[in-house]
Amino acid sequence: RIATASRVAVIGTGYVGLTTGACLASLGHHVVCADADPHKVDRLRRGEVDILEPRLPELVRDGQASGHLEFTQDTKASVAGAEVVFFCLPTPMGVGGAADLAAVEAVSDEIRTALPHGCVVVNKSTVPVGTAERVAALLGRPDITVVSNPEFLREGHAVHDFLHPDRIVIGAAEQEAARRVAGLYAPLDAPVVLTDTASAEIAKYAANFFLAMKLSFVNNLATLCEHFTADVDDVVAALGHDPRIGPAFLKPGPGWGGSCLPKDTHALLTVCEESGVEFPLLRATIDTNVEHQSRLVERVVAECSPGPGTPHDARPGTLPGALPGAQPGARPSALSGGPSDGSGGSAHGSLHGVTLALLGLTFKAGTSDLRDSPALAIARRLRERGAELRAYDPALSETRPDLSDLLTIVDTPEKAVEGARACVVLTEWPQFRDLDWEAVAGLLTAPVVYDFRNLLDPDRLARAGLSWQGIGRSL
Ligand code: UGA
Repeated sequence: RIATASRVAVIGTGYVGLTTGACLASLGHHVVCADADPHKVDRLRRGEVDILEPRLPELVRDGQASGHLEFTQDTKASVAGAEVVFFCLPTPMGVGGAADLAAVEAVSDEIRTALPHGCVVVNKSTVPVGTAERVAALLGRPDITVVSNPEFLREGHAVHDFLHPDRIVIGAAEQEAARRVAGLYAPLDAPVVLTDTASAEIAKYAANFFLAMKLSFVNNLATLCEHFTADVDDVVAALGHDPRIGPAFLKPGPGWGGSCLPKDTHALLTVCEESGVEFPLLRATIDTNVEHQSRLVERVVAECSPGPGTPHDARPGTLPGALPGAQPGARPSALSGGPSDGSGGSAHGSLHGVTLALLGLTFKAGTSDLRDSPALAIARRLRERGAELRAYDPALSETRPDLSDLLTIVDTPEKAVEGARACVVLTEWPQFRDLDWEAVAGLLTAPVVYDFRNLLDPDRLARAGLSWQGIGRSL
């Protein structure tokens, strides 16, 4: 807890704003959170949090019970008496990939005259380089300093990441303002990087771009491993012992997604293009992600496409795409059949009449967020090829009208796999490891599981009579 509590306003109660508000209140500050959505404010006042974020509901309830945390729909009123005002506003991908700053601009305009004399405004949202200066110009208040203090929270770990930060980055033109913001975090005992606003803004984009680059790298590495029948997980383990590389964030998957990495890499690309700065790795990172997903889809198409004259409801025990003489439980043709490079082969194969079961739709485990989910990107491509898709995700119990043209959501994994040609694991929910795989084998029409998260135990699946197909690994 803090020795000197500050009065703080947080505008926007998305996962960044709500986490920031609730965590700052837990440190002893007095926090007023504002959100334009009256229903959301009502729910938050009752302690109801509609995002899946461990510990957040408790912090929201405790903060209100102790009087440190309040919620209001009145943005102007929220800043009254505030020493520090956080902007935690959406900055979605706008026209041409640039960050859309409409919310930041609208709020700047709305609170311009209501901000207390000498307060500090903090951009917490991910914003393009130069936004701190732009907000300062919009506010037109020489007594107010605009500071860049980007967040590095992961969805599903937001409270933990806030309270145990790797670093706190504060960009400010004025030392006094930077010190005031740093003081808010004093109890957290984290390294603080003090810099100018442009450097802080770039640091945030650079972090997400670097993470995306690691993932594009490892997904390409997986393809290389497949080609040489090597094991990408072993290769990554070997790399990870080098402290200059490290083992983290190098798990191959169905491509990277979520509400931040795609949006931020595209926004940075736009910033570079608009400013005439060459950064070829950015384009390569983005393109690699798209090509990787295409390769995974072609693999499924090549093996599951009924093909001319082939019955699509292969008998249990028949491995689609398997080499002649292959046995159930043996690994079929990820390495031997079908294009793994996304080119040629059965790229034009059709999945008409083929039902596929999808396990997992959220962009990663531990969240109910579907924004820019790689699972949905893959589902769309499979659907374009004619597949019928039935999906189960532990975080999605409701039907989703917005997805009804794409797939059917069912409420158990068994319902997803029943009568399906193959099963595709797209999100790394740990509970998928412990499914009744014998039952799954009995319900699929062909015993193949595409594990695009390398989540499952191949031996366990083989014992259940299923053929496991991971990424960048052979059995
Ligand atoms: C990301 C960053 O990790 C946070 O540091 C950052 O603060 C946040 O964006 C943001 O800018 O707000 P998040 O969007 O929650 O956090 O998602 P990640 O956990 O980074 O995962 C991103 C994607 O990469 C997911 O699709 C995930 O499945 C995938 N991933 C991640 C892999 O495929 N392999 C890995 O080893 C790690």
